[in-house]
Amino acid sequence: MAILFLLLLLFSSSCFCHAQQLYTNNKQNSCSDNSSSTLGYVCNGPQSCSSFLTFRSAAFYNSSVSIAYILATDASNISRINGVDDVVSTFPDDQIVLVPLSCSCSGGFYQHNASFNVRANDYYFKIVNDTYQGLTTCQAVAAQNSYNPRNLSVYLRLNVPVRCACPTAAQASRGIRYLLNYLVTWGDDIPTIATRFRADEQAVRDGNNLSADAVIFPFTTLLVPLTSEPTRDLIVTPSQPVGPTPESGSSSTNKGVFIGVGSGVRCNVVIHVIDQS
Ligand SMILES: *[C@@H]1O[C@H](CO)[C@@H](O)[C@H](O)[C@H]1NC(C)=O
Ligand SMILES: *[C@@H]1O[C@H](CO)[C@@H](O)[C@H](O)[C@H]1NC(C)=O
Ligand SMILES: *[C@@H]1O[C@H](CO)[C@@H](O)[C@H](O)[C@H]1NC(C)=O
Ligand SMILES: *[C@@H]1O[C@H](CO)[C@@H](O)[C@H](O)[C@H]1NC(C)=O
Ligand SMILES: *[C@@H]1O[C@H](CO)[C@@H](O)[C@H](O)[C@H]1NC(C)=O
Ligand SMILES: *[C@@H]1O[C@H](CO)[C@@H](O)[C@H](O)[C@H]1NC(C)=O
Ligand SMILES: *[C@@H]1O[C@H](CO)[C@@H](O)[C@H](O)[C@H]1NC(C)=O
Repeated sequence: MAILFLLLLLFSSSCFCHAQQLYTNNKQNSCSDNSSSTLGYVCNGPQSCSSFLTFRSAAFYNSSVSIAYILATDASNISRINGVDDVVSTFPDDQIVLVPLSCSCSGGFYQHNASFNVRANDYYFKIVNDTYQGLTTCQAVAAQNSYNPRNLSVYLRLNVPVRCACPTAAQASRGIRYLLNYLVTWGDDIPTIATRFRADEQAVRDGNNLSADAVIFPFTTLLVPLTSEPTRDLIVTPSQPVGPTPESGSSSTNKGVFIGVGSGVRCNVVIHVIDQS
């Protein structure tokens, strides 16, 4: 019995001492690549939890009520956490909006269920990248809808599994209560994101299986371990590096190479090389 317990302990410590979840690493851009990381974050903690994500206000989705609608969550909760008086006031274009939602395990992956009505000329990649901004993937949508992705008709109701995750036991033991699903944008890097959310940089890397020199891509999600609910003051300020000079830190983190491969009915490749150093 004691040996079995010891083995279990060894097994669990060797499995969970490093990465808690796998970063998609831009695989979400290639809809035929159905690696596990694109389908969702694996259930490796509690069956359900409260969770948060960031959305960027955009045309049509610029108020608590419209954002709550596509993300299937409570509009007044969005207003409350973002310090907005009512649910119809609009956020300035491209502002980070904090969204509280529930997260639960389904089919081995954590997700928050939302749904979306197909528009004219829609295809999965357009819906997940343009409307959902990368909070879900074409792979996860394809896996959870039985429609022919090449022939979507207007007004079809799609199941949209929004990515989310719950803290593992290892994270919980270090005081982590929530995993914020942060939408990476142009120019972001891990030190800046960690600073913004007052999270430990190494904990962010470990939580997403990212090494010190890893590159992150816009329209992917990064889990940020939080010890308390995120608050409005974390998101109102622009994400400026906090420190003596903008050029401080290792040069590798100021360099980002973003490669996007779009796949709709036809395939196109977009390569953006950003060199801020
Ligand atoms: C992934 O794709 C391969 C080939 O298209 C298929 O055989 C496999 O069942 C797919 N796996 C999942 C989890 O959808
Ligand atoms: C918000 O979205 C509506 C369309 O739903 C648009 O008419 C309006 O200009 C947008 N407001 C802002 C501040 O972007
Ligand atoms: C809104 O937030 C409250 C307090 O956190 C929570 O109890 C409630 O479940 C949330 N409502 C929805 C629909 O998520
Ligand atoms: C979410 O949707 C899946 C099917 O797509 C279902 O199995 C699961 O029970 C749903 N989760 C919740 C919390 O409703
Ligand atoms: C596409 O879907 C429509 C409506 O469901 C159907 O009438 C049509 O036959 C489909 N076309 C193809 C090529 O599958
Ligand atoms: C990523 O996860 C693998 C095991 O899944 C582990 O061996 C590796 O050390 C992890 N890398 C990082 C950078 O966390
Ligand atoms: C995803 O959407 C963004 C914003 O519209 C766009 O800049 C980017 O190129 C899209 N990604 C791909 C792979 O098409």
